[in-house]
Amino acid sequence: MPTLLRIDASISGTASRTRRITQAFTDAWSARGPEFAVVSRDLAADPIPHLPDAALHWPARMRPADAAPPAAAEALQAELIAELVAADVLLLGAPMYNYSLPSTLKAWIDHVHVPGVTADFDEPAHPLAGRPAIIATACGASYEPGGPTDGWDHTVPPLELVLGTAFRMQVEVVATELTLADTIPAMAGMREAAAEQLEAAVERARALAAR
Ligand SMILES: Cc1cc2nc3c(=O)[nH]c(=O)nc-3n(C[C@H](O)[C@H](O)[C@H](O)COP(=O)(O)O)c2cc1C
Repeated sequence: MPTLLRIDASISGTASRTRRITQAFTDAWSARGPEFAVVSRDLAADPIPHLPDAALHWPARMRPADAAPPAAAEALQAELIAELVAADVLLLGAPMYNYSLPSTLKAWIDHVHVPGVTADFDEPAHPLAGRPAIIATACGASYEPGGPTDGWDHTVPPLELVLGTAFRMQVEVVATELTLADTIPAMAGMREAAAEQLEAAVERARALAAR
């Protein structure tokens, strides 16, 4: 049974653009048949705690002898990694918050990026290699290549590094910019472009899910 793991992080509720993209992907995935399962995790409604102990960045065999991470945190980490490894496709809703990713999503990354378990360290460990990972991202302004804010986006690059470089997943980024055009008067002239970008992102998400 092909399983999609969908993780949302936006705190904007029904106004969220990333949720609109992840919903479009999920709907197209589900439309492929009843065997196309979906597991959802909403990090805004149900946040996970920050990683409480550095020992949890490593598997038990690589921790200091006196390491004693909290059992509840270790159990949550095991649950999150098992959920990720059980998924055939990962779909992340990753809004830009302060040029970076939401702290709730960062907490999830801190739990599941474990060298020697989900990524290489002392021996090859790539249970996720080759699997698709779709990053649905949205930002209020624009960070397009060659523009004055080129390089300011620290939302997508760390996710590409962890999912693509460390986990060796096949990463696709579905992005929509200028989302604050609807609310900031000075950006009113960009509303049409923003709407077009969102529509294109939704279409691309549908196409990726059908693939
Ligand atoms: C806490 C917070 C911080 C934000 N920081 C930025 C920012 O640094 N740059 C930017 O372009 N937009 C920023 N925005 C705007 C969001 O990126 C934008 O609203 C985007 O659409 C969020 O995704 P969502 O629609 O899925 O919630 C911020 C929004 C919030 C709530």
